[in-house]
Amino acid sequence: MTNQEIREQLVKHSWNQRQVTDASHLLVIALRTDIDEAWCDRFIARAEEVRGEAGAFGAYRDMMVGFIANLDADALKQWAKLQCYIALGQFMTTTAMLVIDACPMEGFVADKYDELLGLKDKHLTTAVLCPAGYRSAEDKYAELPKVRFQASEVITHL
Ligand SMILES: Cc1cc2nc3c(=O)[nH]c(=O)nc-3n(C[C@H](O)[C@H](O)[C@H](O)COP(=O)(O)O)c2cc1C
Repeated sequence: MTNQEIREQLVKHSWNQRQVTDASHLLVIALRTDIDEAWCDRFIARAEEVRGEAGAFGAYRDMMVGFIANLDADALKQWAKLQCYIALGQFMTTTAMLVIDACPMEGFVADKYDELLGLKDKHLTTAVLCPAGYRSAEDKYAELPKVRFQASEVITHL
């Protein structure tokens, strides 16, 4: 998002964090709230269209429908939110490769974002934010050493 007017309104719903407006772009990743059997069918129809293979995904469809049928509303939302973090990871890796800084953020009020961005009507709700842009020369944090646990502590090689 580059609309400064909307982004300015979002600051107060982002714990007053200014990177929501100061970064050149604000990525808002949203999850679907309407994942059901009909949505699975839409996805399967799309797969058939893209792959040109009508009727080839029956077993896959049944697996998807069975998977979501086993989840209650909260678990389904949680699952959908996790998918958003895959997109977030891809976005951050890509920005890093382009030497663009990014700041993943969970400090925001999802309901207010949904309201201001008109997401509810689209059956979406905000999952996570990621302002991104070229580094400011005045960024006092940029040159600080990165704080990371030792690789040996967080990676197990079996
Ligand atoms: C769950 C989670 C939520 C976060 N939310 C925010 C946030 O709302 N605002 C913010 O400036 N940083 C937030 N951060 C921290 C930054 O995204 C980032 O981790 C921090 O700037 C340090 O990154 P670096 O060590 O790669 O420099 C959050 C981090 C995590 C793990």
